[in-house]
Amino acid sequence: MTELIFATHNLHKLQELQALLPAGINLISLDEYGIMQEIPETGATLEENALIKCQFVYNKTGQPCFADDTGLEVEALDGRPGVHSARYASLRKNDNENIEKLLYELEGKTHRKARFRTIIQLAWDDDYMQFEGIVNGTITLEPLGFSGFGYDPVFIPEGHERSFAEMDLEEKNTMSHRARAFEKLVEWLRENV
Ligand code: IMP
Repeated sequence: MTELIFATHNLHKLQELQALLPAGINLISLDEYGIMQEIPETGATLEENALIKCQFVYNKTGQPCFADDTGLEVEALDGRPGVHSARYASLRKNDNENIEKLLYELEGKTHRKARFRTIIQLAWDDDYMQFEGIVNGTITLEPLGFSGFGYDPVFIPEGHERSFAEMDLEEKNTMSHRARAFEKLVEWLRENV
């Protein structure tokens, strides 16, 4: 059984990836491992933040681990909020406030294309590997649905008519940015471990 620490305190993220785990891999959250503190995200890019979080946990535990960082990149806002997605409206990292600000900034705009981009950083012995997952879509005119977290209520993935928050976890996992990055990580583990 391979034990992998997922460097997150976000229960939604943990549930998403747990549902995608192949047999033989056991996911352990930071809370389960006894690491309760917030890891500072001081990087200028998603890549840097994922590396910072992963290195922090690897230095502390010496165990195989991975961290993810996600950004919502909106075309009409020149890629914002991007790496600042969590603290877009304020330092409180509040989902409702972030959504409100996003809809306000896009008010009157018909061009509403956006994408979620996730970077997963894995530390496995001396191997440091990054995996990227992207899903394209559009920003809605108002929040739709109640499942998921973050910007899910205002994001409709390409080829669909419902927001991520109107889908259950299983359906979101067939197309999401994080699921796509995680699939690449699992593939790497299959080939290398
Ligand atoms: P982080 O990767 O946890 O730092 O997330 C950055 C921001 O993106 C936060 O505001 C999250 O709520 C949001 N976010 C991350 N993943 C998702 C997702 O799958 N759906 C919607 N919002 C997300």
